[in-house]
Amino acid sequence: QMLAKRAWYSAGWSSELVDGPLQRRILGQEVVLFRDAEGEAVALSAVCPHRGANLGLGCVVEGTVECPFHGWRFNNEGECTKVPSQPEWKKIPNRAKVPKFTLCEQQGILWIWMDQDTAPDKGPISYDFLNEDCGMTRVLDDARFVEAPYVSVVENAIDNSHPAFIHPGTLAGEPQVVEEQTVVIDGDECGLWAQLDPNSAWKQPSEGTKGMLGQWRKAIGITELDKDRCYFRFDLGGVVYFYDTFTNGETQVGFVCVTPADETHTWFFGEHIRSYANKGLIKVVTSHAIKKWMAALNEEDVIWSELLWSADTPDGLPSPLSVVADRPALGFRKVYRNACERERCTNDSLVDLEKHRNQGGM
Ligand code: FES
Repeated sequence: QMLAKRAWYSAGWSSELVDGPLQRRILGQEVVLFRDAEGEAVALSAVCPHRGANLGLGCVVEGTVECPFHGWRFNNEGECTKVPSQPEWKKIPNRAKVPKFTLCEQQGILWIWMDQDTAPDKGPISYDFLNEDCGMTRVLDDARFVEAPYVSVVENAIDNSHPAFIHPGTLAGEPQVVEEQTVVIDGDECGLWAQLDPNSAWKQPSEGTKGMLGQWRKAIGITELDKDRCYFRFDLGGVVYFYDTFTNGETQVGFVCVTPADETHTWFFGEHIRSYANKGLIKVVTSHAIKKWMAALNEEDVIWSELLWSADTPDGLPSPLSVVADRPALGFRKVYRNACERERCTNDSLVDLEKHRNQGGM
C-alpha cells in the first residue's frame, strides 16, 4: 500500500493538547506534540537523539519537552536547550536537535504536514460547520488508534451499505438496499462529493424507527431526511464527513479525520456536530447520551474495520470486488491512488534529474 505524504493530516484535536506531550505515530514516524511557552502547538520527531527514548513519554517544562530518560530538553525548534548530566557552561553538541514538522492549529484541529522534502503550497482546508459562530454544537472529540490500513478506515466512513448490518442497534434500522449514488470528483482530483442520485433506478425510505437513533426519532416526532441535501465529502488528507439535513432544517455532521499511522494502522479522529434546530431533541436526548451513542457507533466502525482481511494489506484480499453501492469507495480509491501516483512521478523525475546531474549532464 502506498501512502500519500503531501497532504495536511490531522495529528489530533486541540482539546487533546493541554500542554502535552502528546505521542502520535503518523505516516510511520514517531511524533511528539506539545505547547511552547507562548501556548503555540509544536510537533517534533519524538526520537531523542541521545539514546532514542520516546520524547512523547516525557513531560513539558517551561515550554520545552523533556526526555523521560536523561532529562534533555528540546525547544519549539527542536534544539536541545539542556543536558542535565553536564554543567551549564559546557557546550551542548550541535547535533543535539530533532526534526520539526510544520503544524497549523485551526478550527480545533492540529493539522500536520509530514513531508520534510516539500513545503505546503496552501494551508489546511477549513469547514464552515467547524466555525464557532456557525450555530452548530460540537459533541465529541474522539481519537482512536485502529489496527487497519488507512484505505479501509476511509472507505468505512463513506460506506452506505454497512449500517443495516453493523449498526442495527445504534442507528435506526437502515434499509439494506442502497439507492444509487452519484460521485463527482473535483477538477484538481483532491476530493469528491457523493450524493444519493435523484434519478436512481430504485428508491428506499430513509427513516427507520428501530435502534437507538430510531427511538429518539420516535420520541421527538420523526424528522425526515431531506435527501437532496444530504451528502458525503472526502478531502485529501483523510477528511470524510456526511452532512445530513432534515426536513425541519436541522443538520447533523459526522466528521472524521483519518490519518495513516503507518501502512497497517490508522488514527480515527471522529466528531459529531449538530444544529439542534429541533429544540425537542435537546430535551429528549442530552448531549451526554449523544456522546455515548457516538462513541458506540464509532466503536462498531473501528471493530469491523479491524476485522477485515483488507485488500490494502499484503496478506489480505487480492483485490476488492465492487457493486453499485460502492461507487463512493471507488471514487475515493481513484482520488487517493492518483495522489500517490502524482507524488511518485515527482519523486521519479527528481531522481532522474539527480542521475542526469551526476552523469555530468548539468
Ligand atoms: Fe533522551 Fe537520554 S535518551 S536524554
